[in-house]
Amino acid sequence: MKKIGFLTSGGDSPGMNACIRAIVKSSLNSKIKPIAIYDGYKGMIENHFKEMKYDDVNNIIQLGGTIIGTARSEEFKIIDYRKKAIQNLQNANIEGLIVIGGDGTFTGATILSKEMNIPIIGVPATIDNDIYGTDNSIGFDTALNTVVEAIDKIRDTASSHHRIFFIEVMGRNSGFIALHAAIAGGAESVLIPEITGNLEHLAKEIKNKNKGKRSTIVIVAEGEEKGGAFEIMKKLKPFLVGYDLRSSVLGHIQRGGKPSALDRIISTKMGAKAVDLLSNNKTDLMVCYKNQQISTIPIIDGISKKISPMENEDMFLLEKMLTLE
Ligand code: F6P
Repeated sequence: MKKIGFLTSGGDSPGMNACIRAIVKSSLNSKIKPIAIYDGYKGMIENHFKEMKYDDVNNIIQLGGTIIGTARSEEFKIIDYRKKAIQNLQNANIEGLIVIGGDGTFTGATILSKEMNIPIIGVPATIDNDIYGTDNSIGFDTALNTVVEAIDKIRDTASSHHRIFFIEVMGRNSGFIALHAAIAGGAESVLIPEITGNLEHLAKEIKNKNKGKRSTIVIVAEGEEKGGAFEIMKKLKPFLVGYDLRSSVLGHIQRGGKPSALDRIISTKMGAKAVDLLSNNKTDLMVCYKNQQISTIPIIDGISKKISPMENEDMFLLEKMLTLE
């Protein structure tokens, strides 16, 4: 293999740059030319490619976001645009592809690998951590730490005012960030899409826990079916008369910022492994970080198999503890 292309796609996540750096350095060390494809599949369609050198990845390991940009490309779902993308890859003599992103990114990759017959390796990167087969996706650890820091800060003001706070966190349809943040942040309750429950019961739980306390924190996953933090707060108001309620949506601050040491290490290992796999003629695999080891699974499993934070027995027990009065 003489030339490989790589892209970041979907929501950016802290650690993507560390992965880009590892891909560029590992490729150059193996005499492979690394070609950055800017802005995900959009750049593939628009022929926005650049051959990367060592200098391009100096001093980027500590940066959040992605230096090569990302996008959620609607056009790539249309065959005619994909034909254009394929033509661009062929014109550039790109012989293998590394795609860094979440399930949308991997879905695009599997379609492309069928239509073009190009070897493709996926690297899981999303703060949501909702990808099967890996304990961590790139960015989850950093986002989790950002959320926990925010909870600590909100706790200060909540305690000063004797308030109950509903804090909404990201995660799309998954409760990974919410559950982990609730445990690490010492929250009194958590609402995630993977656990069903009713609001009246929640109100009782909140009242019980609030006894003798200066503050109560309820973490709400954005994918929670009963609504976001503001809506849950509104629905609970009639059951919590006399309590001072507030809501806060953490939003995109959860996606930015310096990657944690763990995210930098995982990203670096995954990037290097992806290059190694391509140069050994492997294809349609996703790189995983499982039990502190790098491994692989078929990329199709990463997309099609579902995971829940409650499948982990320790997390299941901790969630039960959290909801004890
Ligand atoms: O997938 C990452 C994520 O941050 C989700 O948690 C969130 O639902 C979504 O992306 C937001 O996407 P956008 O930045 O396109 O609004």
